[in-house]
Amino acid sequence: MASFPATGVCYYPEHWPQSQWASDAKAMVDAGISWVRIAEFSWAVIEPSPEEFNWQWLDDAVETLGQAGLKLVMCTPTATPPKWLVDQMPDMIAIDADGNPRKFGSRRHYSFAHQGYRKESQRITKLIADRYGNNPYVQAWQTDNEYGCHDTAVSYCASALNGFRRWLGQRYGHIDALNQAWGNVFWSMNYRHFDDIDLPNLTVTEANPAHALDFMRYSSDEIKSFNLEQVEIIRAASPERPISHNYMGMFNQFDHRIVAQDLDIAAWDSYPLGMLQNMQAAARKDAKLEHDCLRTGDPDFQAFHHDLYRGMGRLWVMEQQPGPVNWARHNVIPAPGAVRMWSWEAVAHGAEVVSYFRWRQSPFAQEQMHAGLKLRDDSDAPGLAEIKQFNREIKNLDIPQNTQAPVALIHDYTADWMTMLDGQTEDFHYLRLLLDIYGAARENGATVDVIGPDDNLDGYQLILLPALMHVSDDLAERLEQSSAIILAGPRTGAKTEDFQLPENLAPGPLSSLIGATITRVDAMPRHLPVKMKWNGEDCEVSVWREEARLLSATSDNSENPLMTTSNKARYLLGWADQTTLKSVLKSALEDAGLTPHDLPPYLRVRQRGKMAIFTNYGPLQVDIPESYKGEVLIGDRKIDPAGVAVMTLTD
Ligand code: GAL
Repeated sequence: MASFPATGVCYYPEHWPQSQWASDAKAMVDAGISWVRIAEFSWAVIEPSPEEFNWQWLDDAVETLGQAGLKLVMCTPTATPPKWLVDQMPDMIAIDADGNPRKFGSRRHYSFAHQGYRKESQRITKLIADRYGNNPYVQAWQTDNEYGCHDTAVSYCASALNGFRRWLGQRYGHIDALNQAWGNVFWSMNYRHFDDIDLPNLTVTEANPAHALDFMRYSSDEIKSFNLEQVEIIRAASPERPISHNYMGMFNQFDHRIVAQDLDIAAWDSYPLGMLQNMQAAARKDAKLEHDCLRTGDPDFQAFHHDLYRGMGRLWVMEQQPGPVNWARHNVIPAPGAVRMWSWEAVAHGAEVVSYFRWRQSPFAQEQMHAGLKLRDDSDAPGLAEIKQFNREIKNLDIPQNTQAPVALIHDYTADWMTMLDGQTEDFHYLRLLLDIYGAARENGATVDVIGPDDNLDGYQLILLPALMHVSDDLAERLEQSSAIILAGPRTGAKTEDFQLPENLAPGPLSSLIGATITRVDAMPRHLPVKMKWNGEDCEVSVWREEARLLSATSDNSENPLMTTSNKARYLLGWADQTTLKSVLKSALEDAGLTPHDLPPYLRVRQRGKMAIFTNYGPLQVDIPESYKGEVLIGDRKIDPAGVAVMTLTD
């Protein structure tokens, strides 16, 4: 039997009597689960007082779980530094943007910039890595837990201030270069020394966006080096075992790509229903979507993140929602079948492991309303039956290797930060724009890779780069050389690396490829759309509209064209409604020599080689379009709500 795909579960032996561990482990194995993640919040149990250790319970837990046939993901417990450590060095506590300490009493209360905490993080990592690095049951690692969760990627503390000044000194070399890059002449913000510079919080009005952007870059680099310190220790003590970190959905506060360079597995924690609620609050206020997908989730959100993180490493879902969660605005029960559907979708997008959070519901503390796979009385929670079914299904299928997709969507953290810091309309939300365009490609049946701006473009037939705010000269050159159809905009190439306007106007270094420059932008409220022309017809555009000066590009000659075209390059001058975007993507796919399919609402599909995996996020039964020919291996051509079908395609 192939070892991937497989399932796992998050387990907290320290929450349960030792007498229960063996029966828990057996029940996991009986359910078809093969991985178990442990210990990420266990520091105070391992080391209850400074240098006083209690390893026995963890030794026993590893042995019991391993003996039962489970493979372990061992975690470093640095997301939860114990109280005694905080008392020893109170300045390790992170400070929020209002200048208030993030107090002890939950988790993630440390600053990445604090050198004393760095040493402690390395000390506890080394102790665990040395103890379990060669344990035969420990087959993978996770560093820390969800870097940046609860708004902790940045800290406005004294350590960060010192670190930032040093970082700026290294980046700019001379203070005049920084003043120039930031445009500090603007409001007499010039500095004479790097040590004059403060953190970009608590300014009278907004801080210089270039200052704020550099602080995000610096904070990101701190997370990278914090993670790398742990990775180097684990690699030395535990060779051959892959190392992961569990990222989150909808999270942009650090550059995950630079962190992922040092890891093997890019894992993420997928909570479709909680994330639907969070996106509704932040960016996608869409009553129909919330109504139709309340119990399944946004049909593109999970897929997008699978593709995003698969672009950074081997993909795992480290925490998969198993039932209702506790932390969203509203916490509903998933539709029957949804847990299985999410699991299948993860595999469709290349996940090696889908691991559920958590084995048993906690009876105490913060997450007692969060479902597990077992109820408090040890009976099965409804999610478990779906996981058992999923395990039987994946065991009996030969799932082909994931291969490169024909379409690439370029995603960039710096672009996200720039749109945040220079939004121009509060309704501009980078992830939402990307989801709209990604979703429009998928409504045409496209399989998409999400890649970074430095990634290889070879082999792609269609490259999408919406709102890629800064385009490097190198990327511009590679796009020019590529034989792919390019669909850029809006807001692509709108800023230089230093967060200034390009001298030749947007899209900066892409101007000759696009054959147009942007002369004016109209940044609007989402609820007041305007008309533009697409294919000679009116379409609705909201939030963002641009006016262009055409160089070599053509448009449909109307006053308000949605798109310009110049050879292989197309540029979108507005954020169009979803029906229009679907049509735009259909024509782009056709121009790229690909065959679009017309999927019914909320039906999505992803191909792994010849295998096509369909997921129905909608409230109605839908048919797989006739254009998909082949053998149905799982399910039926009619797919129920929250249902799945798996086909082998013949052409
Ligand atoms: C994740 C976190 C877990 C748990 C879970 C609840 O963000 O990593 O520890 O809190 O959410 O859904």
